[in-house]
Amino acid sequence: MPDPSEPIRGFASDNCSGAHPRVLEAIAAVNDGHTPSYGADPETARLDALARAEFGESSRIFPMLNGTGANVAALRAIARPHQAVICAETAHLTIDETAAPEAIAGLKLLGAPTPDGKLTPEIAATRLADRADLPHIAWPAVITISQPTELGTVYRPEEIRALADFAGEHDLVLHMDGARIFNAAAFLGGGLAAASTDHGVDVLSLGANKNGVVFGEAVVFADPVPAQGFDVLRKGSLQLASKMRFLSAQITALIENDLGLELAATANARAADLADRVSALEDIVLAQSVEANIVFVAMPLERARDFVERQAPHRPLLFEVGEAGLIRLVCSWDTTEEDVQRVVADLEVRQA
Ligand SMILES: Cc1ncc(COP(=O)(O)O)c(C=O)c1O
Repeated sequence: MPDPSEPIRGFASDNCSGAHPRVLEAIAAVNDGHTPSYGADPETARLDALARAEFGESSRIFPMLNGTGANVAALRAIARPHQAVICAETAHLTIDETAAPEAIAGLKLLGAPTPDGKLTPEIAATRLADRADLPHIAWPAVITISQPTELGTVYRPEEIRALADFAGEHDLVLHMDGARIFNAAAFLGGGLAAASTDHGVDVLSLGANKNGVVFGEAVVFADPVPAQGFDVLRKGSLQLASKMRFLSAQITALIENDLGLELAATANARAADLADRVSALEDIVLAQSVEANIVFVAMPLERARDFVERQAPHRPLLFEVGEAGLIRLVCSWDTTEEDVQRVVADLEVRQA
C-alpha cells in the first residue's frame, strides 16, 4: 500500500506534476505593483529579448495560454480555412484537440500512418494533392511535426532539415508542435532552436506546461512576416492573457539559465532508467525507442489492464492492440529514482 503521507507521483502524464519552485519564485517576483496589461509589460519585453537571443533576431515569440490554443492559432497564421495540414496520424493535433483545428481554423487534417510517430518526406508525399482535383480538395499548406513525437521519439536535425526542404519544394510551411520541446532539446544536447528553427522549422508551438510551469506555452515564428497580425489572431483565438506578466515570467524562468533543459534532462534520465529496468522484465517489451520522457511498454492485455487499474488514480494511457496492451508511461521533471523503482515493481506483478 502506498504511504498516505507521501506525495503521490504517477506516470500518467507530465501534466500531472506541479510547478518548479523557481517558476513560483519568478511569478512572485513580478507580482508587485501595477504594470501595463496584455503584453505591454517589462516582463514580456524581457522574454522577447531572451527568445530573440535563442531563436535569432528575426524571430517573434507570443505567450499563449495552452498547447491546443498555441497549435490552432499558429496554424491559423499560416494556413487559410479550406486548406489542409499534413500530420502523422498519431499527432496530438488530430487525435486530442477535439477537432479544434477543423472547427476553429477550418483546416482539414491529413494524417499519415508512421511506424514511430515521425513524418518523413516520403510519408508526407503520400498526402500531397493533385492540382487536377482543385477546387474540390483541401490543398495542403502546412506540414506539422511533433518534437518529440507523441510516441516519445525525437526528430534528428537532418530529419527536420529533410522535411523543411520537402516543405520548401512543395510550398508548404513547416510547423512544429513542441509541447515537449525541452525534452527533445535535452536529448539532442543543444538548445531549443537546435531542436527546431535552426533546421528549417517556420513556426514552433513551444511547450512549457509539461515542464515545470503553472500554466502557459508560446508560439515562436522564425521569421517576422507570418507573425504579422498574430497579436490580433491570438486574441481572436481566445489565447490573449490580460495579466501577461505572470505567463511571460514563467517561460522566461524556463529559458533563463537553462532551467527548462535541466528539468527536461531529469525527466529524460528517469525515462531511460525506466526503459532499462523494463527491458529486464519477462513478457514486457519496449514498444518504441525511448528518447525523451515517454516510455511505451507492451505486455499481455489482461496484465496491462490489471497494472493500469493498480495505478489509480494515476492510470496511464492504455491502448488495446489485439491481445496486447500498450501502456504509455510519462516521466516528469520531479519523477524520482524511487518512483521509477516503484512503478517497475508494480509492472513485475503478475496476475494470480
Ligand atoms: C504533443 C502535444 N501537443 C499539444 C498538447 C497540448 O496540450 P494542452 O492543450 O492540453 O495544453 C499536448 C498535451 O498533452 C501534447 O501532448
